[in-house]
This record gives sequence, C-alpha cells and structure tokens, in this order.
Amino acid sequence: MTDTIDDVTFDQMRQLVGLVDYDETKDPFPVKAMDAVVFVAGNATQTAWFYQHAFGMTLVAYSGPETGMRDHKSFVLKAGSARFVINGGVAPDSPLHDHHRKHGDGVVDLALEVADVDQCIAHARAQGATVLEEPHDVADEFGTVRMAAIAAYGETRHTLIDRSRYSGPYLPGYVEKAGRPRKRLFQAVDHCVGNVELGKMDYWVEFYNRVMGFVNMAEFVGDDIATDYSALMSKVVSNGNHRVKFPLNEPAIAKRKSQIDEYLEFYDGAGCQHIALATNDIIGTVTAMREAGVEFLDTPDSYYDDPALRARIGEVRVPIEELKRHRILVDRDEDGYLLQIFTAPIGDRPTVFYELIERHGSLGFGKGNFKALFEAIEREQERRGNL
Ligand code: FE2
Repeated sequence: MTDTIDDVTFDQMRQLVGLVDYDETKDPFPVKAMDAVVFVAGNATQTAWFYQHAFGMTLVAYSGPETGMRDHKSFVLKAGSARFVINGGVAPDSPLHDHHRKHGDGVVDLALEVADVDQCIAHARAQGATVLEEPHDVADEFGTVRMAAIAAYGETRHTLIDRSRYSGPYLPGYVEKAGRPRKRLFQAVDHCVGNVELGKMDYWVEFYNRVMGFVNMAEFVGDDIATDYSALMSKVVSNGNHRVKFPLNEPAIAKRKSQIDEYLEFYDGAGCQHIALATNDIIGTVTAMREAGVEFLDTPDSYYDDPALRARIGEVRVPIEELKRHRILVDRDEDGYLLQIFTAPIGDRPTVFYELIERHGSLGFGKGNFKALFEAIEREQERRGNL
C-alpha cells in the first residue's frame, strides 16, 4: 500500500477491478472510467472530514462561498483513481436541502468520464434517454471541460465529462485544496449498486444495454440470494472493459421486508445502495477503518467453521483464521477468488453503505456470500425494527 494519491496504473487497475479487453470502436457509448461519485450530505463539511479520517481519502479541491459559489459547499476527495464529491447546501433556499429532506445523505450522480460527450448524448437521446443537461463547455484558466447529463434510476443522474483538455484540480469553479495526505486505504471504485423498485430491474438493465451500450455480467436471481425472510433479484451491467460496473437490485416477494424494501422506504425511492472500493490489502484497510470507528457487518463463526466453505474456497492469500478474526468474506469462481466485507450504513438512514473488495482474478461479486451477507443485514434490520 502506498501513501500517495497518484492515479493507479492500467495494470494495477486490471488486477484491482478485473478489466477485460474489448473493441472500443464498436461501442456506441464508449465510457473510459468512473469520473466521480457525487453525494449530497446534510453536513458536507463534516462528511468530508469523515472520508478523510475514516476512509483515508485526501482532500484535493473545494468550491463554496469563499470561491464565489453562494449556494453550496463542495469538497472533492481522492484515493487512487477514486474520486468522491461531497455537496451540502449553504443558502437556506438551496435545492440541495430539498434533496436531502427527501433522501437523506446519498449519491446524486455517478459521473462517467467519456472521450466524446456529444457522441454519447446523441446515442442516448436516439435511444430515448432523458437528457438533463445538453453538452456544453465550462472553462477557466486550467482549460475546458465538456459536460452533459442523463437521468438514471430515481433522482440519480450520470454526468458525462470529457476532461482531456483540462488540467485543474476538478472542474472549473473549484480551487485546489491541499488536505493533509492520508494513508491510502483503497485505490479505485469497483462497482456501484443501484436499488430499484419492484419489477423495475429488467427495465434498468435494458436501459443500460440500449442507451449506454453496457453489457450484462453475472446474473443472480431468486433463490441464489434468498434467506428465510428476505429476497432480492440482482443483475449486473458493465461498460465494455468492465471498469464501470453497475449491479441493479430489486426486491423479491418474501416472508418479511427485504433489505431492498427497507432501502426504498428510507431513501424514498430508487437510488445507489452501496459502493464497492477496490483495495490490494483488505486486512490493512479494514484494520485502519475499524480503528477510525467505521462499523462493519458481523459474520457468524459458523460461516468460517463450515467445512463446505473451506472446501469451496481452497487456498487464498490470507489464512482463514485471519479472515475470521477480521470478519472478511471470501468467494471463489472459475476465474479466481475475492475477499470482501461490508460496512454498516454510514449515514442516519439505513441506506448507503460500502463494500471493500480485494480481487484475485475473480470477476464476480461474491455470489457465494450473498446468503451469509443478507442474514447479517437482517440481524441489523431486526435491531432497527424494520424486518
Ligand atoms: Fe457489491
């Protein structure tokens, strides 16, 4: 693990998030990478502090009243290639307060870096997407950014950004803000999961296929991820090289309220459920985050003591006793294995949470762990009185 916030090399990225080769020239909507995960928070000032101190992110840019933006404060944080932007309302009539009143802390924008904003918007529009912002240039002394935005599930949007002609710290209007460099705890965003309403999963899978040229990855349906009480359906779409991966969940009918139902109720609609952060040292990352006070979902001893698990996963980098001590989950598929762990919700509402993932060849999402994970989530739901 390095102490820098330098961007991650392509080879590192291949290992971290599981890239595949593909022909970009045949892609109607070529996406280079995640540009940023943009949040609205009730208190952006303190939320930015949280991501620096608990998630090892480095503050790199800022916009707010001091830089001429009266409406809101905006903090930009980085860890490797991952960029988070935290926005909070300043002016009493800021629309961000209305968004926060409805949804609480959450993700408003999964911004994507693209080479040709106009090409992507033309394709998206022809395929029936709602264009929220037409392609336009924004410029300052560091150059020009071309941007546009389309609507996704709920009130989530995808801003499309071509920053090839821009050298500033984030976007025009932001000033460099050199926060104290932190020990980097993760290197990239691996995937961002959307929770959508009952019966809407296939609609959004088809949206990403048709409008954004995304391809279908692993598919989990029904029994794969049902516990006695809870059930959900999940499908995964990704851009051509798998650098941007969006699993989509919908609730399934079950005996009691599923975790997706709980999210939809408390977020008041569809939205981003969890963000998976790729690390090359999950033990070090979990240890540092726990020391900083981040809470992780517990996994019962029975998960580790099950002979079937030991038979299924075979040899992994870390002894199983150490995984057990840190409550880290492990899964293996035909391509390799992965280590993963999930935080408790990070805000007041039982909505957004994080996953840490360390991939060793596996391109999956921990299908073998879904049952154990959901049982852990249900124990938390029960404690909240929402099961
Ligand atoms: Fe995940």
